[in-house]
Amino acid sequence: MLTEISRKRTETGTKTKDIVTMSKKKIVVLTGAGMSAESGLSTFRATGGLWEQHRIEDVATPEGWHKNPGLVLEFYNQRRKQLITALPNAGHLALAALEKDFEVEIITQNVDDLHERAGSSKVLHLHGELTKVRSTGPGAEVFELSPDQYTTHLGDKCPKGYQLRPHIVWFGEAVPEIDNAIHITGQADVFVVIGTSLNVYPAAGLLHYVPRTAPVFLIDPNEVIAPQPHIAVIKKGASEGMKELTELLKAYR
Ligand code: APR
Repeated sequence: MLTEISRKRTETGTKTKDIVTMSKKKIVVLTGAGMSAESGLSTFRATGGLWEQHRIEDVATPEGWHKNPGLVLEFYNQRRKQLITALPNAGHLALAALEKDFEVEIITQNVDDLHERAGSSKVLHLHGELTKVRSTGPGAEVFELSPDQYTTHLGDKCPKGYQLRPHIVWFGEAVPEIDNAIHITGQADVFVVIGTSLNVYPAAGLLHYVPRTAPVFLIDPNEVIAPQPHIAVIKKGASEGMKELTELLKAYR
């Protein structure tokens, strides 16, 4: 079904012809740790979640890094170790499958690469990526880790001789991709939120940039937001929730 048609008139010699371009509706998806929970990766704020086992101040702040960089590197080495064996779940796969009928842009707070491995083509990482490291030198160059060498240790340096750090946005640091994320959110025909407690800003504030005309769906097995008339809540996990959403979205193609 065509969803939107734009016509451009072009001149070819003396003849004028209509070019019809079909553009798919745009679904913008904001994901959080709950998206990857069914892949076996821990969320942060649940009972037994990562922030119950580790102090944010120790492993996810610039202060923690300066105090004990070895501990911080080890924390992210552990996250990478879990990621190597994790697989995209049915929710990730369903999001990738939506690209058949929609233009889909994912804004994720997750630092795993499960959206990419599921086949999603447009993924913006707001909080960095586990698969990358960054120089602590002035250029802050970013380097991709090869999966067979998925750890970083004290003494691992960039070619210019600066210690490498995780390519992660820590608490208290700027979120360089937020302007891009705001821009993408503003283009949404449909906005979807999956598996985030919406506790962390500026990511949680993206909801304010959703166009008024765009329906909003929220998938989470727990209540994360006070009921609001314009937000349709699917109170399920990511995989089951995506099954339901895929059916509902047929009305928007
Ligand atoms: N499917 C969908 N959602 C789930 C599932 C599931 N199977 N299991 C749990 N959830 C939901 C929880 O109910 C919760 O609302 O996922 C959400 C996870 O919330 P958080 O642990 O707070 O994770 P997130 O919102 O991604 O955290 C944001 O905080 O610590 C920082 O930088 C870190 O990116 C992270 C940011």
